[in-house]
Amino acid sequence: MEYGPGAYGLPGRHESFWMETTTKTSHPPLPGDLETDVTVLGGGIAGITTAVLLKRAGYAVTLIEADRIARGVTGRTTAKITSLHRLIYAELIDRFGSGQAQQYADANQAAIETIASFVREYDIPCDFVRKPAYTYAESEESRDLVMAEADAARSLGLPATFVEDLPLPARTYGAVRFADQAQFHPLKYLLHLASLIPGDGSQIFEKTRALEVQDGGGRCAVRTENGIVMSRAVVLATHYPFYDSPGFYFARMEPSRSYVLGVRIDEPFPEGMFINAESPAHSWRSQPDEGGELVLVGGMEHRSGENVDTREHYRNLEAYARSVYPVRSVDYHWSTQDYITNDGVPYIGPLADGHENVYIATGFRKWGMTNGTAAATIITDMIRGRANPWTEVYAPNRFKPAASARRFLVHNIEVAEKYIGGVISRPAGDLGDVQPGEGKILMIEGEKTGVFRDREGRVHAVNPTCTHLGCVAAWNSAEETWDCPCHGSRYDADGKVIHGPAVKDLKPRGG
Ligand code: FES
Repeated sequence: MEYGPGAYGLPGRHESFWMETTTKTSHPPLPGDLETDVTVLGGGIAGITTAVLLKRAGYAVTLIEADRIARGVTGRTTAKITSLHRLIYAELIDRFGSGQAQQYADANQAAIETIASFVREYDIPCDFVRKPAYTYAESEESRDLVMAEADAARSLGLPATFVEDLPLPARTYGAVRFADQAQFHPLKYLLHLASLIPGDGSQIFEKTRALEVQDGGGRCAVRTENGIVMSRAVVLATHYPFYDSPGFYFARMEPSRSYVLGVRIDEPFPEGMFINAESPAHSWRSQPDEGGELVLVGGMEHRSGENVDTREHYRNLEAYARSVYPVRSVDYHWSTQDYITNDGVPYIGPLADGHENVYIATGFRKWGMTNGTAAATIITDMIRGRANPWTEVYAPNRFKPAASARRFLVHNIEVAEKYIGGVISRPAGDLGDVQPGEGKILMIEGEKTGVFRDREGRVHAVNPTCTHLGCVAAWNSAEETWDCPCHGSRYDADGKVIHGPAVKDLKPRGG
């Protein structure tokens, strides 16, 4: 077993393979106030693809990113380009009817071809390759679900079959197989697409956090740290819509973290991309690299801010990988976060009634390569005033009591009781108990205090009350961050925001 310099005995380098094998961009910060046609907030797959499509349609676009483009969630994906989203179609037909299930199927199948056509048209060297995708049953009980998924998907015209055997050496009980799906290196693809944005009135600004959006009378103003951007329309592709008050998105989605290992095995990885039907997820794909072939094993999801010793998830994932393959080495480990809506379908479209010029794209449920590309197509059509056939299933203003009311209520009662009061982050112990590499909530001088002791023994102390809506953040031991369980805001050890919806840092304690 090889362990690299990862924190506190975790295997391999603590870095996304995609990020390590591409160069960080260096676009300037917003220099001050400006006017543009459309403002796109967020430099992941949804934001960059939207900006490219709008620019091709003749708009002047300003893309604004709080950090560096393609370094957020898109930089940590497993990058499967597929319309097979574990098990979804049987459920969609049941909940939404076959008409809207068809929209979801068509939008995601079309997204595969949109990506393929960009790769072809711009000759993007991004390891794009067609592969089948599988969702397999790990237990006998799931076999019927997988069969039903194959039937449901086929009824929607998707390239689905049920197969008895998998080329993976895991014990399985059949799988649904989608032919002609794809995978790629997501950052090589996105950075190339992003290079098409600057020029002819369009531009990218990085290291510029948006703080507020105001709209009315056909004009939108985005207030950022560095100036105000005025435009006809704003696209919130920030993963979570930080400007959410009109839509109450904070109550309609939950944040979920998951984990990825990059491992080496001594045999060629089989042809395909794989994921199980059960929880927790076990996801597989391979990626060519200088060392030959890296195998990406992912999954072990949980709600953000829960299961506080997050290192355990990496260890469980490694144990699972070793139960399937004799793993020669673990070269990388990284984690990611995504949002899941109450009914499992993303929100794509106008933010809320009365806010028709502000668009959102969020809640991709870990299938962001196709849902993010579909979002770009839908929102571009909306801004251009063109009809789009997939808008209904994704409409953010849908509310289907049968589909989402129960989860909506349960979720909000949980949020109110567990997190705002900080039940899962009750203070325990005193400063002397906090070991190097450990983070804890303590009561210091009568105040709830988030304390982290680094490897050099220095103490970092913050007020752990999340600056978004006041839940109590929990320490994430694997990533060394404060994570809010309510809506997924994340802060570094000193309280600096690294992931919204929060836009303000945690307050320091004792400083
Ligand atoms: Fe909303 Fe923390 S992210 S309260």
